[in-house]
Amino acid sequence: MAKVLSGAGLRGQSAGETALCTVGKAAAGLTYRGYDIDVLADNASFEEVAYLLLYGALPNRAQLQDYEHKLMQLRSLPEALKAALELIPKDAHPMDVMRTGCSFLGNLEPELSSEQHAFSGQLPAADRLIATLPAMVVYWYRFTHDGVRIDTQNSHVPSLAGHFLTMLHDEEPSELHTKVMNVSLILYAEHEFNASTFTARVCASTLSDMHSCVTGAIGSLRGPLHGGANEAAMEMIEPWQSADEAEAALMEKLANKEKVMGFGHAIYSECDPRNDIIKKWSKKLSEETGDDHLYAVSERCEAVMWREKKLFCNADFFHASAYRFMGIPTKLFTPIFVCSRITGWAAHVMEQRANNRIIRPSADYTGPDHAEWIAIDDRP
Ligand SMILES: CC(C)(COP(=O)(O)OP(=O)(O)OC[C@H]1O[C@@H](n2cnc3c(N)ncnc32)[C@H](O)[C@@H]1OP(=O)(O)O)[C@@H](O)C(=O)NCCC(=O)NCCS
Repeated sequence: MAKVLSGAGLRGQSAGETALCTVGKAAAGLTYRGYDIDVLADNASFEEVAYLLLYGALPNRAQLQDYEHKLMQLRSLPEALKAALELIPKDAHPMDVMRTGCSFLGNLEPELSSEQHAFSGQLPAADRLIATLPAMVVYWYRFTHDGVRIDTQNSHVPSLAGHFLTMLHDEEPSELHTKVMNVSLILYAEHEFNASTFTARVCASTLSDMHSCVTGAIGSLRGPLHGGANEAAMEMIEPWQSADEAEAALMEKLANKEKVMGFGHAIYSECDPRNDIIKKWSKKLSEETGDDHLYAVSERCEAVMWREKKLFCNADFFHASAYRFMGIPTKLFTPIFVCSRITGWAAHVMEQRANNRIIRPSADYTGPDHAEWIAIDDRP
């Protein structure tokens, strides 16, 4: 009998090989191509990490400059895409906007022609998505919420981190905000066979195109058990005006057996290595903005969840307060995750293609053994 994968959620099962990332294996807890996440967050730019994931090694200075320049050149959105984004209603979810934007770009600039399956266009398609996904969501947001058509080129702002915040706020961010945004993009860039990446790989395994793989991945990331947790965490903590109020409300949630967003992880069992990093930056931002309760509320939630349930903050929890301190609207939190994770998704698509076999697991059948056909007029 053929061996089948079993176990709810495929937890603990290996579903393939990757050279891109380890989660919960090395001492750092998370590595990208062998580099510890804390080293990357301290030293690298997001563009450097994108290059590492997509091109296989850290760039030297000249390669990085070329890559940054290339991404800047690729920022502007086609007129047809802008027109399509303008048709999407204001109350749409920005993740749906990104899903549509990615798919639409795949129509305008297809990666594959029907007779070409050599994937020679995969790196250009990935770079174009890295350069344009931030603009897609912010263009739509600013058009529908503020009635303005923004400049999606921003030739004077070199980093994608700064570009995102400049499009959003119409002014260049401070050094601190650019740094935090850069760190955030690095932390979210890659995470092995998580749900959205696995979606992308399954799609890639059919020899589908890059835009289909990424569009599917965006759909998977949208859910509150995955990328949507940073938004859900913000919605939870926002009304709480003090640490004591947070503790009381949280205890009630736990008594009602509610899931608390931003806590727990499918792979990590004791801590999420990304949490300490973003927590540190959230604290700095809290001090910079003169916040008098949000950081304290967040810290108390962390203490209560550990004390009561031995559950720790995942990467999403302190991202919520960090983004709020930088004036980012809650509904744009998960889209930022997309702007970052596109690098990991694209790298996985290319890795899957390089050694492909269509992904097609089996299922443990739980239906009836044999059903007798009943003519339609005899059915109850
Ligand atoms: C991340 C997550 C989906 C992992 O799921 P999982 O590996 O299937 O873990 P489980 O849901 O089986 O959790 C195991 C136990 O811990 C509890 N638990 C896990 N996360 C919890 C949370 N955030 N709040 C409250 N209880 C939680 C579960 O209820 C379960 O308890 P039980 O055994 O009494 O039923 C889960 O922790 C979760 O839903 N977290 C909130 C969403 C989130 O922050 N997602 C972002 C992930 S980076």
